[in-house]
Amino acid sequence: MSFLKPAARPWQATDFAYSQVVPRRYDDDLAYILRTTALVESRADQYGDYLRAVFATRGPHWRHAIDAWNREEREHGRALRRLCEAQGEFAFEYAMTSYLAGVDYHACDGLSVRGSIAGELVARCVVEALASTFYRVLRDSCADETGRAVLHTLALDEARHYGMFRALLADEQQRAPLRGWQRIRVGLRRMLELSDDQILFAAWLVATTAPSHYCRRTTAARYGAALYPRYRFDHLLFAARLICPVLFAGRSEWLVRGFAAALWAGVQWRAATSRLRLALTPMPPRAADAPQG
Ligand SMILES: [Fe+2]
Ligand SMILES: [Fe+2]
Repeated sequence: MSFLKPAARPWQATDFAYSQVVPRRYDDDLAYILRTTALVESRADQYGDYLRAVFATRGPHWRHAIDAWNREEREHGRALRRLCEAQGEFAFEYAMTSYLAGVDYHACDGLSVRGSIAGELVARCVVEALASTFYRVLRDSCADETGRAVLHTLALDEARHYGMFRALLADEQQRAPLRGWQRIRVGLRRMLELSDDQILFAAWLVATTAPSHYCRRTTAARYGAALYPRYRFDHLLFAARLICPVLFAGRSEWLVRGFAAALWAGVQWRAATSRLRLALTPMPPRAADAPQG
């Protein structure tokens, strides 16, 4: 019994042609998002430790699934790091050390921050669905062939991870079911956490060269202005097709299109408010703007 379907084409971070990366094909904002994501994905072992503790009572099949998932997530961090290093100087080790020291992940005490194992799985389904969407968005706005290949591969992996957590959720629902309104509450709350410190502190680290203090609001504006304008409606339709069955136990076309429209409105709002805040806030220099030498 395996919850994680194997990849159609198994891969490793060393498989991509990083020597063929053309740095000028990455706009500053895309490079900034990729560096941020390289840090966030490189924390895979902490995510794995947390989930292994939460699912400790669920037996070896669950454990094997999380171990396999953890290995793949680790590979995502490696591939993104290589991709960023191929674009120019990237002090990954320094940034990663600061990231791990600056933002704690959830405690590995066996308790889910979502209140239950089923709640944890709903949140994981949402995260993986949004991660697959996110990599599609970045792939579609990347002009470099190697970058597109890496991002496409990660998008496929995240969709399989969504399938794995959904299979675990189906298993758990037979044991300790979560009611419909509880699934919606956990899922929507997890979506709102996309602008928490786990991502924004990493974004601040990769964008800051001069000494400055971390400001979540300012960083959210810069990160949001870099990311959200890249989303198209068809990206959000893809996200809605994955998320609706988990939150609403339905996949009818009107439900999916309605939810995609709500996501679209949310993304447009975030893009507009981020740009406005960015225009009104003086920014510290970003790595690409910093004086050289
Ligand atoms: Fe990942
Ligand atoms: Fe994933």
